[in-house]
Amino acid sequence: MKVFIRSFGCQMNKLDTNLVVNSFLQAGFQFTEEVSESDVVLINTCSVRNHAEERVLSLLGHLKHIKKTNPHLVAAVFGCMAQRLKEDLLSHEAVNIVCGPLQIPELVSLVNKAVEQNTKLTAVSSDIRHNPPQQQSDRLDEFELLYDKAQDNLPAQAYVRVMRGCDKFCSYCVVPYVRGPEASRPPQKIIAQIKKLADAGIKQITLLGQTVNSYRYNGSSFADLLYEVSKVDGIEWVKFVTCYPKKFDERIFKAMVDLPKVCRYLHIPAQSGSDKILKAMNRGYTCAQYLEIIDKAREIVPDIAIAGDFIVGFPGETDEDFQKSIELVEKAQYKNCFIFKYSPRPGTRADEKLADDVPMEVKKQRNIELLAVQDKFSENLNKSFIGRTVKVLVEGTSKKSHLDKVGKEGVSQLIGRTAGDYIMVFDGPTNLAGQFVDIIITKTSSLTLFGRLKLM
Ligand code: 5AD
Ligand code: SF4
Repeated sequence: MKVFIRSFGCQMNKLDTNLVVNSFLQAGFQFTEEVSESDVVLINTCSVRNHAEERVLSLLGHLKHIKKTNPHLVAAVFGCMAQRLKEDLLSHEAVNIVCGPLQIPELVSLVNKAVEQNTKLTAVSSDIRHNPPQQQSDRLDEFELLYDKAQDNLPAQAYVRVMRGCDKFCSYCVVPYVRGPEASRPPQKIIAQIKKLADAGIKQITLLGQTVNSYRYNGSSFADLLYEVSKVDGIEWVKFVTCYPKKFDERIFKAMVDLPKVCRYLHIPAQSGSDKILKAMNRGYTCAQYLEIIDKAREIVPDIAIAGDFIVGFPGETDEDFQKSIELVEKAQYKNCFIFKYSPRPGTRADEKLADDVPMEVKKQRNIELLAVQDKFSENLNKSFIGRTVKVLVEGTSKKSHLDKVGKEGVSQLIGRTAGDYIMVFDGPTNLAGQFVDIIITKTSSLTLFGRLKLM
């Protein structure tokens, strides 16, 4: 049977997609890039903003038509949106299976059952915040440990989950309700998995968690974990996302200095520069406290690359509040910033208690304005790198054809990333994918560095 898979959302979802692909391959399924020739369609969904859900619904609308000519097609919707909408999603004509993010180990058997019995099936957590997650965690750990090849990841790179769920309850965020309570994986299991990945040729791992710096297992902290992970032979770069800007353990910064494998990159969302809005978001810190953390980071790790997230148009955000976000972006000197328009999510405290009172036009305007401030800074920062030589892990050929072409015709344009997570575009042979190379930076834009291979 042939499977078509589509994945929306964050790195956590990409990892889940890889695990699911792996389990279907092990069960003897094949994959296809064409929906029209598939017997099974798997959709890994995201609920973080409404737009992500709309894209899934539009794909389901498309599937409804395909099913008219191929009624035996089995469609499974899994991940966050499946957990959020549960049975409601099953009533969609195109959907056969609804499977939550904690039930993905069951997906192969659900698909087999749906094919055999031609039935609709649901596997979601009924009360995700209150079910004891231990048994589920053990099963997910086992499922995760089966994954040792990183099939459809970038060459030589893999994600490794260090924790599941979230307990922070930021008022706008759906994650605690769809991914459940925070649970850290035992360090032995994480290390065993990384060793397996290293044996399979993985050179860079990215440790994943909603708030990795909250990692704690029997007295072991995230900094302790970094020291352990660094001991694994074969792994050359260790990255991690995402950090929460509260009670930040400085030992994490010290680990960056002590351990050459740990990349000096920190993704630490601020969300807003206004204390009033941060309070309404239930973030639990002030703008000044946030700045203290990144000052500390730069004091201990002077060349650290810092990235942030902001939400514009949160309920009650006045021009004055927004101005404070602009000021924070100016002060923080981020390498880059992800900026999102507030999207009310059903079931969250912000949606229940606060009116979505910033008009869409204003959200759009603020988004453009904040991005422009960051872009200008990034452009100047990147320019200052011209002439430097940097180490890059090559991902493969660049999908976008960059306007700023470098080098000669007839050579592939490759893309890779530096330890600080800067995107690097340069010409070279495609067999460099998955290798570390040295690149001399010759040209820059606000989003990309361009360069040429440094010959040995
Ligand atoms: N609306 C807009 N952006 C959101 N994010 C999370 N929830 C929402 C929401 N309801 C953003 C935050 C978070 C990133 C992953 O998505 O900035 O850091
Ligand atoms: Fe959502 Fe806040 Fe948890 Fe991040 S820390 S996943 S924004 S609740």
